[in-house]
Amino acid sequence: MIAQKQVRDYIRSIVDFPHEGIVFRDVTTLFADPRGFRMAIDQLLHPYAGMRFDKVVGLEARGFILGGAVAHQLSAGFVPIRKKGKLPGAVISEAYTLEYGEAVVEIHDDAITPGERILLVDDLLATGGTAEAGIRLVERLGGEIIGCAFIVDLPDLGGRARLEALDMDVHALCA
Ligand code: PRP
Ligand code: ADE
Repeated sequence: MIAQKQVRDYIRSIVDFPHEGIVFRDVTTLFADPRGFRMAIDQLLHPYAGMRFDKVVGLEARGFILGGAVAHQLSAGFVPIRKKGKLPGAVISEAYTLEYGEAVVEIHDDAITPGERILLVDDLLATGGTAEAGIRLVERLGGEIIGCAFIVDLPDLGGRARLEALDMDVHALCA
């Protein structure tokens, strides 16, 4: 019997991108495959069956692709967290460090109403710096993060432990 392809089988690794020493997990090959993309969205949603969310917050850039599909399935709104200088309205900002650099992320200051139930979505959890900055932004606006969902978790880089130390519920499809 031929084993069914799993989500991890659709993801390719590119060595030395964007810098020497980084093995970049490229999810574009997962997104490009009709069966792979549907499987990934279905599995991202699985732990949240029957739960109500007001908004899905997606982290730039691949969190937008996932977050849009997930928000549609949950009948929730979608809110982007973008790199500095990209959002047109009034924003709040958070600086953070990641596996290969430093950055600032922003959210529109009116994107979340206090008390709203939020699902945070991104393609990959590495050091957790990006996700933690996203969590801080959502919580500064009064949102309640119910879950944080990722396709890939790289546990050696400590992201899951970092988010769990913040009492976050972390869901990832593969390592
Ligand atoms: C990648 C990935 C996550 C982040 C994870 O994005 O999509 O957002 O890194 O790393 P961390 O857990 O160490 O913070 P990247 O910063 O490459 O930005 P991009 O999606 O805009 O290319
Ligand atoms: N973001 C941080 N580390 C990454 C990696 N190894 N692959 C893809 N995105 C990343």
